[in-house]
Amino acid sequence: MKIIKFSLLILCIFIICKLASVNLHDKESPDMIRYLKNNPNEPDNIFRLYRRDFCAKAFSRSRVYPNANLKKRKSEYDIKHFSYQLNDTLDDYLLKEKLGSGRFSIVYKALHQPTGETRAIKILVDTSERKIKRELLALNQIQGGPNVIKFYEIISNKSSKYPSMVFELAEGLPIHKSQKSYTEFEIKNYMYQILQALDHAHSKGIMHRDIKGGNIVVDTEKKQLKVLDWGISEFYFPYKEYDHHVATLYYMPPELLVRVKDYDYSLDIWMAGCVLGEMLLSKHPFFKAKDERHLLKLMTKFLGTQEFYKYLKKYRIELNYDWIKKIKIREPLARSDIINERNPHLVTDTALDLLFKLLVFDKEKRLTAREAMEHQYFDEIRNL
Ligand SMILES: Nc1ncnc2c1ncn2[C@@H]1O[C@H](COP(=O)(O)OP(=O)(O)O)[C@@H](O)[C@H]1O
Ligand SMILES: [Mg+2]
Repeated sequence: MKIIKFSLLILCIFIICKLASVNLHDKESPDMIRYLKNNPNEPDNIFRLYRRDFCAKAFSRSRVYPNANLKKRKSEYDIKHFSYQLNDTLDDYLLKEKLGSGRFSIVYKALHQPTGETRAIKILVDTSERKIKRELLALNQIQGGPNVIKFYEIISNKSSKYPSMVFELAEGLPIHKSQKSYTEFEIKNYMYQILQALDHAHSKGIMHRDIKGGNIVVDTEKKQLKVLDWGISEFYFPYKEYDHHVATLYYMPPELLVRVKDYDYSLDIWMAGCVLGEMLLSKHPFFKAKDERHLLKLMTKFLGTQEFYKYLKKYRIELNYDWIKKIKIREPLARSDIINERNPHLVTDTALDLLFKLLVFDKEKRLTAREAMEHQYFDEIRNL
């Protein structure tokens, strides 16, 4: 009898140890370690091996195209190994009217005299060499993709102070200025085109990081859309930590707001969700925030506080108490709160279903561009 009891005790101890070791093993083997084990030849300078909170759940990597850049040569993604040729062809262009301007540039329509084509010239005012190289590297990777602006060359001449990038001319206006409101078909069509461009860029390992009305031009006659301004785009590497000073406030996804730095392509999906929200509600911008805290308030008002707390818990994100105490407990908005007299025909259940699958706190749960393209909302567009 004693022997049986003793054996049972030993068995119990063995099982408990086994379970404990599984737990321990799980904790000590986050995605990143598994990933590095499977990819022993990774250039380690692109990974941060150690972080303050070294636990599995704090890490996350893109659900799609995680390795898109891993087989590339350094000269294809690393500005330190990239050089470009500045063509001395500025005199071939005849500058015409101004098309727009941004933080780093002024853009003009220009006649390319040798071909007779009208193009767009982006004069890079006070743009760092680093930024120019990054934009060129990204443009090289994504050229030829659907609804991606075509890039021709980077030019200068002896007398010009700044270099200029030459692009195809995107006819029309930025999407938020082009029309006050869009029909359901137009929204579906334009949104689908944005997702096509994003899926293409993501498949090439590029995050745009500044999707917003001003960087999307629509030709309402041809119903053709172009995604431009790849100036702050970046190459995605799993677990790499990126700068959170990207994106425009209104379009900033939650991960930037709470300073999660290993973000991924899903950043663009949140921003695209904001653009969808703008079109559905004829309201620009969708989250009209005064500052980051106000933005968080607007997000939690829209998506509900519980979802936000679940998100913080999952990624073990600690927020400053000052921030938390400003957040009131709220339920997510219901359809009846979202529709107004102008939009009931646009804010359908299917449209809202898509919107709430793009604007998700947890970046891992957001639809990817390709998944969004498969959404029922686009059934009538997909096979056009
Ligand atoms: N290829 C283009 N065709 C037509 N308009 C353009 C083109 N490129 C830029 N623009 C216009 O110029 C503005 C600024 O260009 P953008 O590339 O966004 O520069 P920045 O990096 O300074 O924001 C855009 O919002 C758009 O209105
Ligand atoms: Mg811009």
